[in-house]
Amino acid sequence: FIGRKWDLFLNIIVGFLFIIFEWVALEIYCSGPILHQVQEAKLFDDDKYFVDMKLKSAPADVLAAFKLLSNESPNSSIPATKLKEFLDANFEKPGTEFETWMPTDWHEKPKFLSGIADEKLRMWGEEIHNLWKSLGRKIQNNVKDHPELYSQIYTPHPVVVPGGRFRELYYWDSYWVINGLLLSEMTETAHGMIQNFLFLVNRYGFVPNGGRIYYERRSQPPFLTLMVESYYEATKDQQFLREALPVLEKEYEFWMQNRSVALKESGLDHVLNRYIVEADLPRYELKQQLWMDLKAGAESGWDFTSRWFINSTGHNDGTLRETRTSQILPTDLNALLCRNERTLASFHRLLGNTESAALYDQAAARRTKAMEALLWDAERGAWFDYNLVTHSKHFEFYPSNLAPVWARCYSQPEMEEKAVKYLKGSGALDFPNGVPTSLRESGQQWDYPNAWPPLQHMLIEGLSKLSSEDAKNLASNLAQRWIKTNWLAYEKYKAMFEKVSMFSGCLFVFLGFGWTNGVALQLLDQYGATLTSGGRRVCVDLLLPLAVSIALMLH
Ligand SMILES: *[C@@H]1O[C@H](CO)[C@@H](O)[C@H](O)[C@H]1NC(C)=O
Ligand SMILES: *[C@@H]1O[C@H](CO)[C@@H](O)[C@H](O)[C@H]1NC(C)=O
Ligand SMILES: *[C@@H]1O[C@H](CO)[C@@H](O)[C@H](O)[C@H]1NC(C)=O
Repeated sequence: FIGRKWDLFLNIIVGFLFIIFEWVALEIYCSGPILHQVQEAKLFDDDKYFVDMKLKSAPADVLAAFKLLSNESPNSSIPATKLKEFLDANFEKPGTEFETWMPTDWHEKPKFLSGIADEKLRMWGEEIHNLWKSLGRKIQNNVKDHPELYSQIYTPHPVVVPGGRFRELYYWDSYWVINGLLLSEMTETAHGMIQNFLFLVNRYGFVPNGGRIYYERRSQPPFLTLMVESYYEATKDQQFLREALPVLEKEYEFWMQNRSVALKESGLDHVLNRYIVEADLPRYELKQQLWMDLKAGAESGWDFTSRWFINSTGHNDGTLRETRTSQILPTDLNALLCRNERTLASFHRLLGNTESAALYDQAAARRTKAMEALLWDAERGAWFDYNLVTHSKHFEFYPSNLAPVWARCYSQPEMEEKAVKYLKGSGALDFPNGVPTSLRESGQQWDYPNAWPPLQHMLIEGLSKLSSEDAKNLASNLAQRWIKTNWLAYEKYKAMFEKVSMFSGCLFVFLGFGWTNGVALQLLDQYGATLTSGGRRVCVDLLLPLAVSIALMLH
């Protein structure tokens, strides 16, 4: 219990430090002292609030004004009222860098709605479709002209943001948002969002985690190639594919050069990928390795989870203090890159570049072999994260153990059957609301009892494409569970939520919410003929526990 308490405390501290250190490191103007005082005075409930504020005048002027103010109380904190006055005089509220923007390609009654048999679900689908109107944002030109005044990174096209306190674009969220937009026949908005990511790859060499300068040093699961694939499938726009392809290859190169590991297994050489972020703050006291691994955890999109917590004997039974993200070869990252390789091959084939297509096919084949050598466990019938230090696999349940099924990245057909059997025996299907992120209740948001939309979708999509009826039925059953959970919550709160808890008193955090909407629309589209809204209410209360909202700061 003491360990738990300490962990919660560490969570809070880490969230606080993330924001401060990243700002201090990147931005001289938004110096430590201002942030420190703001945090200390507890002016805002949300630490992300202050760092998203816009400066009203040049950084040096604001710093000078702050120095004057500090001199008035040399040995103590600045009184909260004074500090508030200073902030009002020198900063604008977050969100001022956005113009309200109504997607110009939004229109009523997109076709997919007519395929939804259940009337209540069809009306709900229409309401989700309406939500795109409230999540559209356009960055003001002033951000382009005066980047020094903003934490926002300028991108040229309007975006659909996740919602809640996430007032900027996010990388992997956008894959499900774009898939939803394409179903809503908003190809222009989807096109603009993809253009923004291509713009970011050209600028940084990779796609940053999100559209703020405090995200500049890490990426997120690389879904850009699959965004382009979704867009191409919806539009058949070859010209766009031709323009995007070199940029997609540039991003792929980043993952292969900066996020890969070469290793030997049974005398054979393999290369696989991991999440790792270079340390940039050696002068701070927090252990450098831990710091790096916390950032790598944020890069994985799973921040935080027992998946990255490794105890001294190499099991997923550690605490936040034992975050070891960079010593793990994750199943889902490698499955995703395998799918990227095959998708890049298919793009080249479409454009008539047979030689390049063959190179990417070979890369996918090499990776499949490496995943089977290092991640696949024939006895258990699934793929597991591989620990580079202990040279062993981690056998805890995570939906990511089935990511290679989703990516169709395996050489033997019987592997998919084994994987379905593994899933059925895992205990993860025992919950009426969806499939939890793990079976370990660590207190972290990417663990039991939370269920996340992208993980549901990858699991369902993977199972739905298998040849066995059994797997297809399971996919449809999981789709029904997830839709019902989301629909009942919507019925009660008139909102879509970022994630869902398996507890009977549902716990949902942050309204909006981009990827939740995208996944719901995709499932309504795919399973519209059979899904039903019937059934008893499973969720009772809306809770907003402090711990979770703090952890979310690291989104
Ligand atoms: C502040 O502290 C310094 C040294 O600790 C002391 O010399 C000075 O008198 C203090 N000033 C005030 C206003 O208390
Ligand atoms: C990738 O790593 C190389 C060194 O191997 C480094 O020069 C380059 O800046 C890194 N790229 C990015 C985008 O961090
Ligand atoms: C690490 O976790 C495993 C699995 O839960 C457990 O058996 C072992 O005792 C743990 N080791 C330590 C040192 O906590």
